[in-house]
Amino acid sequence: MKPTEIDIEAVLAQLSLDEKVALLSGIDGWHTKAIPRLGVPSVRMSDGPNGVRGTRFFNGVPAACLPCETALGATFDQDLIRQLGQLLGQECKAKGAHVLLGPTINIQRGPLGGRGFESFSEDPVLSGTLAASYCEGVSSENIIATPKHLVCNDQEHERVAVNSIVTDRALREIYLLPFQIALGRARPGALMTSYNKVNGTHASEDPRLLRDIVRQEWKYEGLIVSDWFGTYSVSEALNAGLDLEMPGMSHFRGPSLIHAITSNKVKEHTIDERVRSVLRMVNLASRSNIPEMAPEVQRNLPATSALLRRAASESVVLLKNEGNILPLNPSKKTLVLGPNANIATYCGGGSASLPAYYTTTPLQGIRAKTTSPDLVSFTQGVYGHKELPLLGEQLCTAEDGRVGYTFRVYTESKEANPARVAVDTLHMTSSSAFLMDYMHPQVKSDVYYVTMDGTFTPTETGEYEFGLTVAGTGLLYVDGKLVVDNKTHQRQGTSFFGIGTPEERGSIHLTAGQKYAVHVDYGTAPTSNLKVKNVVSFGPGGVRVGGARRIEPAQAVEEAVRLAADTSAFDQVVVCIGLNSDWESEGFDRPHMDLPAGSDELVHRVLAARPDAVVVVQSGTPVTMPWASNAKALLQAWYGGNEAGNGIADVLFGDVNPAAKLPLTFPVTLAQNPSYLNYRSEGGRVLYGEDVYVGYRYYDAVGVQPLFRFGHGLSYTSFASSGLSLAVQDTPKVTDASLSPSVTVKNTGERAGAEVLQVYVAPPPTTALRRPIRELKAFHKVPVLAPGESRTVHLPPISLALATSYWDENRDAWLSEAGAYTLHVVGTGADNVVSQTFVVESSRWWTGLHGNVATKAVNGVNGHA
Ligand code: BGC
Repeated sequence: MKPTEIDIEAVLAQLSLDEKVALLSGIDGWHTKAIPRLGVPSVRMSDGPNGVRGTRFFNGVPAACLPCETALGATFDQDLIRQLGQLLGQECKAKGAHVLLGPTINIQRGPLGGRGFESFSEDPVLSGTLAASYCEGVSSENIIATPKHLVCNDQEHERVAVNSIVTDRALREIYLLPFQIALGRARPGALMTSYNKVNGTHASEDPRLLRDIVRQEWKYEGLIVSDWFGTYSVSEALNAGLDLEMPGMSHFRGPSLIHAITSNKVKEHTIDERVRSVLRMVNLASRSNIPEMAPEVQRNLPATSALLRRAASESVVLLKNEGNILPLNPSKKTLVLGPNANIATYCGGGSASLPAYYTTTPLQGIRAKTTSPDLVSFTQGVYGHKELPLLGEQLCTAEDGRVGYTFRVYTESKEANPARVAVDTLHMTSSSAFLMDYMHPQVKSDVYYVTMDGTFTPTETGEYEFGLTVAGTGLLYVDGKLVVDNKTHQRQGTSFFGIGTPEERGSIHLTAGQKYAVHVDYGTAPTSNLKVKNVVSFGPGGVRVGGARRIEPAQAVEEAVRLAADTSAFDQVVVCIGLNSDWESEGFDRPHMDLPAGSDELVHRVLAARPDAVVVVQSGTPVTMPWASNAKALLQAWYGGNEAGNGIADVLFGDVNPAAKLPLTFPVTLAQNPSYLNYRSEGGRVLYGEDVYVGYRYYDAVGVQPLFRFGHGLSYTSFASSGLSLAVQDTPKVTDASLSPSVTVKNTGERAGAEVLQVYVAPPPTTALRRPIRELKAFHKVPVLAPGESRTVHLPPISLALATSYWDENRDAWLSEAGAYTLHVVGTGADNVVSQTFVVESSRWWTGLHGNVATKAVNGVNGHA
């Protein structure tokens, strides 16, 4: 026991029943209960996964923002992910957080998932392996990582109510496998359950999942915490194994739990088991030496920026590059256009979102690359936002001219008391205020009132739109004139995790240079008349204020096409399109796979006028690209975090030679994807009808060509693999056996570049049941090779058990089936595949984890496989 650690059994013996119960739920949004008399400190938790937001959704302290997890998935680079995990651990220290709520390792069954951007991949091995690296990095700083959400939380629609109906085989082979790999190898100290039901029972109270699989079969000894407001029962959840209900104040573990103990629905020894888990987590947390209730600070360091820039650039996937249009030339005149060019699209929406230390736009990144910034021109083309861009940073305060606005909080409405006095006055810049964790001693209920005041000075004369989105009620005035009424008649929307309205808009003509007073009157969620079903209520709600000059789309597209066509004015053209956090967010799924209205027409017309224009797409999940066959040069650039714009520019200009590969398949149309008929809650359930044929497993099996396959990604150089040798180390115990491939990789092109190797295994032709044609079993990023250089790469050993097994529902066990398997090592470029067969002599069943996964335990709770 370390000096700061508590003696769990001694503490347990001294805790009163009330204290034990109090330890089993949070005290607020982000903290657990302290028992000072026994030296038990409070532990702080923070979201995850692409940064550490700290304890405040509301007006939070800025943080480092990593690329979203689909971007990280595209790197196929365990070392990089481990380094980023370590950075997250350091960021946790800056925010005083002992526990990081990430990584997210659900599976993208289809392109529409609102949180698809937040998970690594459609493939369980890529997802679980990168999650293990992420957790190891976080743990190396003595911070507790929390893989989430166990399990089948793969859509947002009715996420707390939906019953995910899935076969045991798909559950094991696709949805649980990332957790099995991550928990087995990295032994993270915490695990979060999902909101939904799995085959009829909510995951947070499912004994089969929590007790039988996670604890008994996988021997997991860490904490199991509910998703926020995802505990639904007293006895069932406790008896199944859910240790901690979050957030506080508790709904299920105060007097209700005492009553359940009194009536013997929950045994006291079960309570002791749950308390032990919490205390083990407290001990793990103490290793970080983070004091209780630490202040939250920024640590915006050059080394952080450098790592984030590497992550942003190394996640960009080169989808097409006909005629070697890319890389671009930094000394040429460049036109940059499109909705995503001049705005920082750095992260998706929901609990993953955070205010970043700083952001970079593609336009800024490109300007910084060219030999002179004057070489770069910009034109908008179309807008891409769903909600108007946030207004906060376009305002300044009347009092001192600071960027931002004044936020005042009242406990009474203006109508009730015209002479009311604000209990709190803040200066804010973000005009999206989600109040879940706003606290003030005089604010004693969820019913309160807010005003927002700032000065807007337009730079151009014209028609301006203002938008107001609320979970609550709101009115927006410009110079005393009511421009938006989101109070009198309200519509149900999906904002603020599904509880708020859509954006309501109004417009007004403004004159350049004139100062206008913008004023918003807002009442919190309980003042709304809307009643919403099947979503969790996040307390007092929130308000979002946006604004932008209205553009005439037809004219703006015309102008963009005219400029792009002018080859004498511009040598090269970059079109930046995509989605943003309005479109991809926790709380709702996308209704379709298309780009925002107008974007496709813009790209079509620009490509017709300028066939060598380079198209850059930023999205967390696939979008339809009806113009893809006309685009010669095409990049997929995700939400790249703080350094998104610089990362894109690094690849456009060839300072980074792309090696990234798609971590999920891009279908041609939505209807082509395997979850098409089963992707929303209908009658309270969603059928996982595609079974194990998720993503590429489906496209391979039915022989349908998607737009871009999982694993696709080009380079500015070329590679060839040869000389595959495969050492099979078999043992009588299937879980110890391994495959050790090695292969020679040669850079056959003219530029230095890194290579990604994907290792697939195809089942024996004699297999007893239908299996995917091939499945990813391992991958490896080969560091940069100079032109002409070749290197023999020894891939890390692969568990033979996992490489060969399917889940046998008749035996409730994995079956490593006898037969001749084929191992393919796939490199970059058409036909760059080397293959070899290997034989499993006899069929063997196994359960538990598997060999070669628990190679080392970093800050783990078990420390062994
Ligand atoms: C999300 C979790 C998150 C939690 C706390 C929930 O809505 O599903 O992923 O960690 O909120 O913000």
